[in-house]
Amino acid sequence: MNGALNRASGTTAREENTVSDHMERVVALTKRRGFVYPSSEIYGGLQATYDYGPMGVELKRLIKDDWWRDVVSQRENVVGLDASILMAARVWEVSGHVAGFNDPMVDCKTCKGRFREDKLEQSQCLKKKKMTPLECGGELTEPRLFNLMFKTKAGPIDDDAATIYLRPETAQGILVNFKNVMDTMRVKIPFGIAQIGKAFRNEIVTGNQIFRMREFEQMEMEFFCEPGTDEEWWEYWKAERLRWWEELGVRKDHLRIRPHSDDELAHYARACGDVEYKYPWGWDEVEGVANRTDYDLKKHQEGSGRGLAYRDEEKKEWVVPYVVEPAMGVDRCFLTILCDAYAEHEKPNGEIRTVLHLHPRLAPVQVGIFPLVKKDGMPDRARAIYDDLKTHFRCLYDQAGSIGKRYARLDEIGTPFCVTVDGDTATDGTVTVRHRDSLDQDRVPAETVGAFLRAAMADWTRPETATA
Ligand code: GAP
Repeated sequence: MNGALNRASGTTAREENTVSDHMERVVALTKRRGFVYPSSEIYGGLQATYDYGPMGVELKRLIKDDWWRDVVSQRENVVGLDASILMAARVWEVSGHVAGFNDPMVDCKTCKGRFREDKLEQSQCLKKKKMTPLECGGELTEPRLFNLMFKTKAGPIDDDAATIYLRPETAQGILVNFKNVMDTMRVKIPFGIAQIGKAFRNEIVTGNQIFRMREFEQMEMEFFCEPGTDEEWWEYWKAERLRWWEELGVRKDHLRIRPHSDDELAHYARACGDVEYKYPWGWDEVEGVANRTDYDLKKHQEGSGRGLAYRDEEKKEWVVPYVVEPAMGVDRCFLTILCDAYAEHEKPNGEIRTVLHLHPRLAPVQVGIFPLVKKDGMPDRARAIYDDLKTHFRCLYDQAGSIGKRYARLDEIGTPFCVTVDGDTATDGTVTVRHRDSLDQDRVPAETVGAFLRAAMADWTRPETATA
């Protein structure tokens, strides 16, 4: 579609699009439509940090709510937690992060770039930008380990004893609260504790906008189970997570699970399966499902001197449970959903229509309500419909500009339906419902438009033709 010739100019539609790369076009849309802004932008920005605008904050909240509903609220055996970001430094010493949460780093003696040794083929030479540090001919130093944790000081005395860390994963907050939850809630093994919150990593290499950042948010769940059942639960959670992705309408052929090889495994994991998505730059990790065994709880048991076992009444013994962990970055999930939803369709006049084919349950605005023109009582009628629908759906009322521009704006923020009040509404009481994906238009009685929209949202499937 995008390569079709525009007869007027003799160029393809894609060539006329000044931003040539798919990822760049997704990033441009996130800025243009108020999803994501670079942090501290008026001061030139701060690398690898981003702010979420009015549309972004809605989408992010909807993603987190959806994950929480699927992983926590709908299950009897998963509970929630909100642990602090700042934790005792001992947590990170004992968990192995102070010694082992490292990436191998190399310097280029020619361009003075600093790169992750295990990501050289995805990195860019600082001088020869089209080449990787493996291709540019620059001399690289031997790799050395770089710890990814941000250090800071707690309290007014600036000495070594005051050193603490910004958490690099939310998981430890859950693991050190295992006993608290066991003792205060009526939970029994197997059960899970879930948390959503900020994490910080001083990444050597960042990039692809919100894909790899230094400040990001995670959605993690630690599922505590009987040793020996961990493999089964690992398989179960991998399948559950894939199901969630598919339910959101993300293209199946863009999703896969890839097991980690032994040399990729984190220091705490026996096995890990990454949910990978086919991004514009290729397959990459969006989520990991790890088998953390009893590594962390045993370490914390030794380190704290507190028992972190449960009583197995059948075996009449205390057992440290195994942990299976589905862990995902909220921001990376956000980018994945946008990359998958983004599409460009060529209109009969050769122009490009940019659309986010978001699942209606994730659309920041689900229904746009417009008067066709600002006269003949249409704004009042449209406002009345808006007042009624906004108690059931996320709605936006707009009467400014041409109807085509209003539709285009809402296509770009992923609004699945628009309701337009026109001249016929006054005479026959019907409105037009315009479908974002098919561009079909239905005449629907104004008093039943809510039921119509509810049914259309429930029936939604991702359109086959929607490709980027
Ligand atoms: N508790 C396990 C853990 O943190 P991880 O694979 O290092 O595992 C889990 O991180 C998820 O967090 C990743 O799959 C990714 O979605 C997200 N993530 C990790 N580092 C990130 C970064 N620098 N920026 C954005 N998201 C990140």
